[in-house]
Order: sequence, then C-alpha cells, then structure tokens
Amino acid sequence: MNNLENYVYKKLGDDHTGHSYLHAKRVESNALLIASSEGGDLSIIKAAALVHDTIDPKLFADTEKESKELQGFLKNEGYSEKDISSIMYIINNLSWHVEVLTPGPLDTIEGNIVRDADRLEAIGAIGITRAVEYGANKGRDFWNEEEMKNISSGKDINPKDDTTIAHFYDKLLKLQSHFVTKTGKELAKKRSQFLIDFLNELKEETPSQ
Ligand code: ADP
Ligand code: NI
Repeated sequence: MNNLENYVYKKLGDDHTGHSYLHAKRVESNALLIASSEGGDLSIIKAAALVHDTIDPKLFADTEKESKELQGFLKNEGYSEKDISSIMYIINNLSWHVEVLTPGPLDTIEGNIVRDADRLEAIGAIGITRAVEYGANKGRDFWNEEEMKNISSGKDINPKDDTTIAHFYDKLLKLQSHFVTKTGKELAKKRSQFLIDFLNELKEETPSQ
C-alpha cells in the first residue's frame, strides 16, 4: 500500500456502510478509466478519489478535525497548497446532497471525473450491494409491506419511506441524468439499466396479493 492508501485504510478499513477502503479503490479505478479519455491532472484525481470519504459527516463526528488532519497529511506527502485546495474542493462538493442544493457540474474537470467515478459506485450491481449494506447497517428493512404490495401491482414507491428500496427512487434511479463526462455517461447507462432490471425482476418475483 502507498501512503495515501494506508491513510484511507486506517480511516475506513472497518466501515460497513458502503464507504470501505475497497470502495475508495474502486472509485480510483473508475476515475482513472474516465480520465484516460477525458484528461485532467492525474495526481489530483487519484488523491481525491482515494480520500473522498475520509471527511464525510455521515462517518465522522468532527469533520473539521478530519479535514485539518487530511490537509496536514497531504502537505507532508508533498502536495502543494494549490493541489490541496483542488483536492478539498472536490471532496467537499461531490456528494449528491450538494448537487440537490446546487445542481450542475463542478468547476473542474478533475471534480467532474471523481464525482462521476463515485456515482458509478451507487448504481449497477455494486450500487445495489452498497445500498443493501448501508440499509442493513442502519437497521432498516429492505422494504415494508405496503411497498411490497405496490411493487407487485406496479404502483409507485414513496421515495421518502425509511427503507432501502425507497432509496432507489429517492436517489439511485435519478443519478443517470447527472453524469457529466462522456465515459461516465456511457458506463452509467448500463449500470442504471441494471437497477431497472433488478426492480422489474423484484416485481416479477413478488407474489401479488
Ligand atoms: P457515496 O459514497 O456514493 O457518496 P453515500 O455516502 O450517499 O454515497 O452512501 C453510500 C452508499 O450507501 C451509496 O451506495 C448509497 O446509495 C447508499 N445509501 C445512502 N443512503 C442510503 C439509504 N437511505 N438507504 C440505502 N442506501 C443508502
Ligand atoms: Ni464514495
């Protein structure tokens, strides 16, 4: 492991909410794949992809402290002030929550690449495993009785329900139209279709009542 990977492993190695070290590594791979056709500064892309969840308020109570620690670490690793601010801009702005408040692309190519790379992880087969893992970790049911009836009869699911299936309607199915890079959009199309196929299969397997 290099020093960056080691830092992330120490922070997220025991995460069970879909933000593990392996998630960070896959975001890095996705980001490098997108960057191979989109360009961007690879050193910023790699660092931002790896550390993107190490200051997430869902995971850390004191994000101010985590943010300072991360910046100190990056400085020690030899990143310039400018690079550190580019990395911090990305990780402070890549979440879905930020886009709901301020829709649209980020200000940098590196930001759009890392954001698309992270979003790919929320859809497709991996996205389903992460949603199930997150829901289970929070003690949520996958679905409730009413949702099960609605699925089997083709009725809508309330996206604000407190279940994992509701999260598909609240966020996951919406993601496809919010990708920015060409490669990200292409990969998102297939992964998003897989979510739809999964929900259709669920409908077929659910007994009608
Ligand atoms: P990301 O790391 O992609 O920014 P989040 O931090 O929002 O994603 O969440 C981590 C994973 O858990 C994602 O795959 C996301 O879809 C899933 N998740 C987040 N909120 C919920 C929820 N309420 N129910 C089920 N899964 C969720
Ligand atoms: Ni992430």
